[in-house]
Amino acid sequence: MSTPQVTIDLSSESFLREPHESYKQGREHHPVYRVPDQDVIMVFGYDPLLEALMKPKVFSSKNTESVLGASIHNPACQAIYEKGWPQVDTLLTNDPPSHTRFKKLVNQAFTKERVEGLKDHFEAMADKLIDGFVERGQCQFIDEFANPLPSQVMAQQLGIQEKDIAKVKIWSDAFIDLIGTDMSSDEQVKRARLVVEFQHYMKECLDERRTHPRIDLLTDLVNARVDDETPLNEAELLNVAQAILVAANTTTSHMLSGGLLRLIDNPEQCAKVRAHPELIPNMVEELLRLQTPTQGMWRTAAEDTELGGVAIKKGEMLLLLFTSANRDAKYFADPDTFDVERNFSAAHVAFSRGVHTCIGMMLARQELVCAFRQILKRMDNITLLDPSQRPKYEASLIFRGLETLDIAFTAR
Ligand code: HEM
Repeated sequence: MSTPQVTIDLSSESFLREPHESYKQGREHHPVYRVPDQDVIMVFGYDPLLEALMKPKVFSSKNTESVLGASIHNPACQAIYEKGWPQVDTLLTNDPPSHTRFKKLVNQAFTKERVEGLKDHFEAMADKLIDGFVERGQCQFIDEFANPLPSQVMAQQLGIQEKDIAKVKIWSDAFIDLIGTDMSSDEQVKRARLVVEFQHYMKECLDERRTHPRIDLLTDLVNARVDDETPLNEAELLNVAQAILVAANTTTSHMLSGGLLRLIDNPEQCAKVRAHPELIPNMVEELLRLQTPTQGMWRTAAEDTELGGVAIKKGEMLLLLFTSANRDAKYFADPDTFDVERNFSAAHVAFSRGVHTCIGMMLARQELVCAFRQILKRMDNITLLDPSQRPKYEASLIFRGLETLDIAFTAR
């Protein structure tokens, strides 16, 4: 009997926008799959994905190149980068034991107490954004809520002034474009300038925190001290701030828009949460499982090895697909169904697992719970503004998020 094939064309726009059917074939037939004619091994299944995450020395995250993409080979960009600080492997692109030092130090800025203390603040921020459009009975949800909320949260946490908040999104988009988009040299140069602009801006913020400490994440990063670990130096602090910006903004924004669309598509589930707001934290977990905004992350085999029965050569690249593992029927019954009361017997992997587990997961959960609570409190009968226009997902291998989401509702 011939082995059933998985149909994946990494350059096909339809696959990049709607990959779930291909992921399902992958999970069922080849949980670890070497894509023919492409230098990529895709990991679809929950078990092999978890195994790879738990072996960071074999499946390495170390790849500084990926932070600035192809731009580091572009002489025009190199000249710009020389005016800033060097990229250092701190968190996302690092391995133990070096990664362990950074994680210990940066964790000091993400304590439970800090996140719990932000609850009222997050609700007030969400409320203020809703005030801006609630009387209209309609809004461009991404531009008016899903993008500004995470930008404001990060700006506030990183000490970026209110007048510069718009830059948070511009900088974070620049980093994300450099990681994942094929661009002309001129486009790369534009992004490289933004990278260095961000570094100089943050350097001033860091200096200011040293002389005028505040109660915020940046002050905690500057002052982070653990045991006998060397404190973070300037280039390391800048890289950590950059990693936080990249990791926090797009992910949370995609969760808000994708999550709201799922509520619109499932009015009976939405009604259940409205009737029982205590279900909101579980609903957020279910949305993280189904929307999983960080679809996948890269790893490189540091040695010849094997995963899920597939022989892997040193240097081969693997794409660990959190999005796919979160719909593995072995762990999640009826995996494509949105169930706000799902009993999570296995944890989803939207925040990854192992040494690279998301540092901001408590903060993200708090922000999402507060945001959805205020949305449901203040808006009723939420629908698509034009139900004949189905919102589209962006074409991306790494992130999963909607391009637009225009909604209508009645103010409560
Ligand atoms: C819904 C929102 C979020 C999702 C789905 C998400 C997802 C993830 C995932 C999957 C990883 C691990 C990548 C890997 O294994 O290679 C990660 C790492 C990370 N995240 Fe998040 N994240 C979110 C929000 C945030 C926020 C709000 C922050 C900071 C305020 C943050 C900061 C980080 C950092 C610094 C890392 C690197 C950790 C390490 O490599 O040790 N994330 N995130």
